[in-house]
Amino acid sequence: MSSGPSDRRTPSGVYAVRFPRLWRPTWAEIDLPAMRRNLKRLKAVARVPILFVVKADGYGHGAVRVAQAALGVDGVMGLGVSSVEEGAVLREAGIKAPILILGSLYPFESTLAAVHYRLTPTVASLEGARRIHLAARGLRGSDRSLLPLSCHLKIDTGMGRVGVRWPAGREVVEYLLRSSGVRLEGLYTHLACAEDSPSFTKRQLSLFSRAVGEAESLGARLKWRHAANSAGTLLWPESRWDLVRPGLAAYGLWEGFEPVLSLKTRVVFLKNVPAGTVLGYGGLFRTRRASRIATLPVGYGDGLPRVLSTGRRAGGVLVRGRRCPFAGAISMDMAMVDVTGVAGVSVGDEAVVIGRSGSEEQTARGIAAAAGTIPYEIVTGITARVPRVYAP
Ligand SMILES: Cc1ncc(COP(=O)(O)O)c(C=O)c1O
Repeated sequence: MSSGPSDRRTPSGVYAVRFPRLWRPTWAEIDLPAMRRNLKRLKAVARVPILFVVKADGYGHGAVRVAQAALGVDGVMGLGVSSVEEGAVLREAGIKAPILILGSLYPFESTLAAVHYRLTPTVASLEGARRIHLAARGLRGSDRSLLPLSCHLKIDTGMGRVGVRWPAGREVVEYLLRSSGVRLEGLYTHLACAEDSPSFTKRQLSLFSRAVGEAESLGARLKWRHAANSAGTLLWPESRWDLVRPGLAAYGLWEGFEPVLSLKTRVVFLKNVPAGTVLGYGGLFRTRRASRIATLPVGYGDGLPRVLSTGRRAGGVLVRGRRCPFAGAISMDMAMVDVTGVAGVSVGDEAVVIGRSGSEEQTARGIAAAAGTIPYEIVTGITARVPRVYAP
């Protein structure tokens, strides 16, 4: 697992295309067995199939690899992406499972691309419904075997981004039911604050329940009614309906689930400096004592938030099982940490930005809290130049 970035099988992205071997020792390890265990746990709780959300390159974990691993888990019925492009990448990697595009399609012409890649579109407006109807009518020759085209209708019950509001959405349901080339296979909504506002969530779920009832009484035969993200799956049994759509918890970014991603680097430079030494851009940091400073080849260009080195709740990295604070501003490609007092530190030592070192652990959730953001932003912010190394 800790073979590091020289593992030729695994580096992803443009750098891997240019270089058969990556030299810079900064990489992300993705623990696929841990992710599979998280998914099994979610399945055991939800007791309905899982549509695993792999938006934003699988929350930064690498969409193709996590999707392939997840689809081997009993009960994972399909994948959720945010765009045609994300779905097309999965299809081109040979993935055949159902893929729902969770965002509404715009420009509307992209409906044709979605059909081409056998992706299931979300309809979120009357115009969206008309476009999928036209796409179905336009199919010729062997493509007619794709008929009827499946879609899911998104109901906006309070998130307020995209989706038809109810009861205005009745018109869209009626339109889709009249369209012979289209099958309204699913109806769904998205919860805005299931982890922190019971009253808002109750209202969302009650609006959704009403929409489902009315759509069914209009004649919709819905195979998939769904509302639950991770928070819904774990905290709101009534949101589970026919499938759940977790992302966060499957990646181990929810309390009690196993973290899947570790971000690691190595000490590339070491020096001793006297008390009063100014370090880094802007001269923001001055040593208070004689210090041993390690330089790491990781920076905000890799997704390490600069605010961790300058904020009041500054973080650090783990070296030899010890927490070492940042010394000076994190720069684009490098960061310095204070390793004074950590016995035996040498150039080449592993430094853990996210993950475990000895008995210490630093989580993406912890980093997010220190950086004043959410764990989604930390993991999706790990940039393409960081190779992902997979434990199968
Ligand atoms: C429509 C939709 N469903 C499900 C999810 C998964 O949410 P979570 O990662 O909180 O489980 C997302 C993620 O943002 C989403 O946009």
